[in-house]
Amino acid sequence: MKKNRAVYLTTPIYYVNDRPHLGHLYTTLAADILARFYRALGKKVFFATGTDEHGQKVAQAAKNADVSPQAYVDTMAQAFVEMMDQAGIAYDDFIRTTQPRHKRAAQALWSSLQKNGHIYLSSYAGWYAVRDEAFYEENELREEGGEKFAPTGAPVHWVEEPCYFFRLSAFQEPLLAYYRDHPDAIGPESRLNEILSFIKGGLQDLAISRSKLTWGIPVPGDDTHVMYVWLDALTNYLTVLGYPDKTTAMETFWPVCTHLMGKDILRFHAVYWPAFLMGAGISAPPRIFAHGWWTREGQKMSKSLGNVLVPQDLIREYGLDPIRYGLFRNVRFGHDTDFSEQNFVSQVERDLVNGLGNLSQRVLSFVQKNTNSQIQPLPEDQDLGEWGVTLLDELESCMDKQDFYGYLEHVFQAIAKANAFMEHLAPWRLIKKGEGGRQKMEQGLSVLVHFLRDVALLLSPFMPDMAKKLLGQMGLSQENSFEALGACLGHHTIGQPLHLFSKRAPS
Ligand code: MSP
Repeated sequence: MKKNRAVYLTTPIYYVNDRPHLGHLYTTLAADILARFYRALGKKVFFATGTDEHGQKVAQAAKNADVSPQAYVDTMAQAFVEMMDQAGIAYDDFIRTTQPRHKRAAQALWSSLQKNGHIYLSSYAGWYAVRDEAFYEENELREEGGEKFAPTGAPVHWVEEPCYFFRLSAFQEPLLAYYRDHPDAIGPESRLNEILSFIKGGLQDLAISRSKLTWGIPVPGDDTHVMYVWLDALTNYLTVLGYPDKTTAMETFWPVCTHLMGKDILRFHAVYWPAFLMGAGISAPPRIFAHGWWTREGQKMSKSLGNVLVPQDLIREYGLDPIRYGLFRNVRFGHDTDFSEQNFVSQVERDLVNGLGNLSQRVLSFVQKNTNSQIQPLPEDQDLGEWGVTLLDELESCMDKQDFYGYLEHVFQAIAKANAFMEHLAPWRLIKKGEGGRQKMEQGLSVLVHFLRDVALLLSPFMPDMAKKLLGQMGLSQENSFEALGACLGHHTIGQPLHLFSKRAPS
């Protein structure tokens, strides 16, 4: 099968009603890791992220802060840009839904749905949760202390207003047919069943405008309404590709799109979004992956509990690379998990300090001290010396399934093997065994240096700083292309070995 040369990766665009937290960092890092992996593989990558700036939730936050919505979103969007810079996120586009290009795209999508007969004017009387920016049916709610709550725990209030509706009910069969033909369109697999049973349960038409709100994109031809914030926000995935113009970016990247998000917003992406697209005559996204939730020492993270993990604090405390690694090594992407400081620290210590750090330190300082920093060409028929190339297909299929955990498992199993190889080689003994011993030692060390070079490359999507440092220590160019995997370095001089990771001082 011929593989696609292009990849389009998206994160959700984040609400700016609050500062970035671990949940935002998590989805963004996942996309960044994939983007770096596919770039190293030589693919053409487009990676977009950004901020969701309209809607009632943001308007309320601005009101509470006593500033205009525009001033508010300008300040808050900046906090997301900074968080991404600090986390080493190499995005290709950062979209803000208050940008003119986005207004144009969202209005064009609306007009296209209207032209195709999928929109009608009526009125809405029902429940709305500002926190989720979602409409709920009476039978979905639970009551507590005289108040009603959505299944997500968000409080709801009664809304009655004229509204435009989207004929979502007409898309029940097309959506079922689409997922029947494209079972890989939703990951992980368990989520596909969840979405299928939601669709089979019956789809109601969806309110897609608000007339009692002004902070939004005006409905084309009727500026007494603004567009429902989810229709506005989802369109961002097209805006960044230049929609509604027929751009090369649209042509290249839309058919290879992967949307990443948390499981809480899967329904918007896997039901409403493909229906909007089908309604506008645009193909549905080929891949949507919903990851799990992080809790904190067993509890849900929330502002009121004061246990929200802030990306900047985490990076300061543990270092960027250990965070980029640890968040994807702790649990399979797709499952929920708890952020336990103790588990996190012991994992980083075991894998990075004692596993990888120790191996590179032992190998490189031995080479420096005993072979005058010289290594020999890679001997032939060495599994360990060529493992990176051998494994690459397998690793690519992990990434195609958003299986970060599986990817890291493969690489760290190889690191354990290399540590065992070093033990078995025992160069400190060989060096005392005359010319024959010395030759065996030099060959073994060459295998290990080549191995480390491949480790640096293969882990570079997760830990770009570590990769740079390790390649630098080996006196190698710090480019991250996988083209270099398995290539023999010839007679090569290594650089100065340094510790890759430091043990965290007990606090
Ligand atoms: N603005 C919408 C998305 C619109 S996309 C067209 C939104 N924004 S959000 O800021 O509330 O959330 C963004 C992402 O953060 C979601 O993917 C959500 O699942 C994720 N997380 C928020 N809290 C989380 C955890 N505690 N753990 C993991 N991710 C979670 O929804």
